[in-house]
Amino acid sequence: MPTMALRLLTTVLYLSLISSATAEFQRILHLPKPNASLTLLAIGDWGRNGTFNQSQVAHQMGKIGEELNIDFVVSVGDNFYESGLTDVEDKSFEDSFTKIYTARSLQTQWYSVLGNHDYRGNAMAQLDPILRSIDSRWFCKRSFMVDAEIAHFFFLDTTPFVKKYWKNPKTNHYDWREVAPRKKYISNLLKDMESSLAESTATWKIVIGHHTIRSVSEHGETPELVELLLPMLINYGVDLYINGHDHCLQHISSTDSPLHFLTSGGGSKAWRGIFMPTTENLQFYYDGQGFVSLELTLAEANIKFYDVYGSVLHKWRITKEFYHYNMRR
Ligand SMILES: *[C@@H]1O[C@H](CO)[C@@H](O)[C@H](O)[C@H]1NC(C)=O
Ligand SMILES: *[C@@H]1O[C@H](CO)[C@@H](O)[C@H](O)[C@H]1NC(C)=O
Ligand SMILES: *[C@@H]1O[C@H](CO)[C@@H](O)[C@H](O)[C@H]1NC(C)=O
Repeated sequence: MPTMALRLLTTVLYLSLISSATAEFQRILHLPKPNASLTLLAIGDWGRNGTFNQSQVAHQMGKIGEELNIDFVVSVGDNFYESGLTDVEDKSFEDSFTKIYTARSLQTQWYSVLGNHDYRGNAMAQLDPILRSIDSRWFCKRSFMVDAEIAHFFFLDTTPFVKKYWKNPKTNHYDWREVAPRKKYISNLLKDMESSLAESTATWKIVIGHHTIRSVSEHGETPELVELLLPMLINYGVDLYINGHDHCLQHISSTDSPLHFLTSGGGSKAWRGIFMPTTENLQFYYDGQGFVSLELTLAEANIKFYDVYGSVLHKWRITKEFYHYNMRR
């Protein structure tokens, strides 16, 4: 049986050599447990030096992480408020990350994407691998894929999709270095995303992005994602879309596909007091802080939402009757 250390060792980086179209979409192999199960936590909208219940949420993540023996943590963006990091030496990295998520179970890989607030600072600082010499858990890229064999996780950079961030560049400060021009960037991204989804034979396909597709909270739907991304998610049978951006917890199902929309944006400041119940598919909404856990096997996914006390607020299970599993080992 591989030990924890061996599993970490076997978590190797490699580039997808399958086709040149996916060359930009880096693929990271993260093996599941030997019995082909995988558990993880998802958190978003968090970095505030521990304030606004960030530390309380972190403490409960540590406890639940221990119970579930988590394999990794997913961050859905808005990692550092108000405006990302200034540079790789910004102390917020330690004050809002290293010194907050201190529990033993959280000393595992963190896979992160950028949110709109991260783009308001020096976006490239968060992507700099040098941060891993300060805290080796940190892994942040604009878009990438984590191949956990039973599940494929597609991390997508959603901030550049949103047109309003590109308006009035003099007053609206976003770090578009390596991104602009918008059209070319998102069309390449969608191409890479589509070919990676088309190739994926994993039992579970999970897409992660900062911005909402469906939401009954402050920001509502992101029209650019509804138009450009949602049809692809439905077409390729994606099971879950996990986002932040709205500082709350929500679960919205679909009537025309098996896709579920999860918001895990309760990492710190919450209680916005905005609720716009615009969909009949709303399964759960909580305006306060918290986080999400996923427990995956080949046959089922168990999903739970927790509050700041670690109490389960909402849970459900998705089962798969027909599945196949390509063992790579
Ligand atoms: C798989 O193994 C882990 C220990 O490595 C255990 O905690 C977990 O309960 C097992 N899961 C299943 C579904 O058997
Ligand atoms: C966190 O603390 C730093 C240093 O004291 C400060 O500059 C920053 O504004 C704080 N961030 C938040 C979100 O409170
Ligand atoms: C912290 O969480 C508690 C329990 O949900 C809540 O009553 C309180 O308002 C929260 N504090 C902040 C600053 O959001």
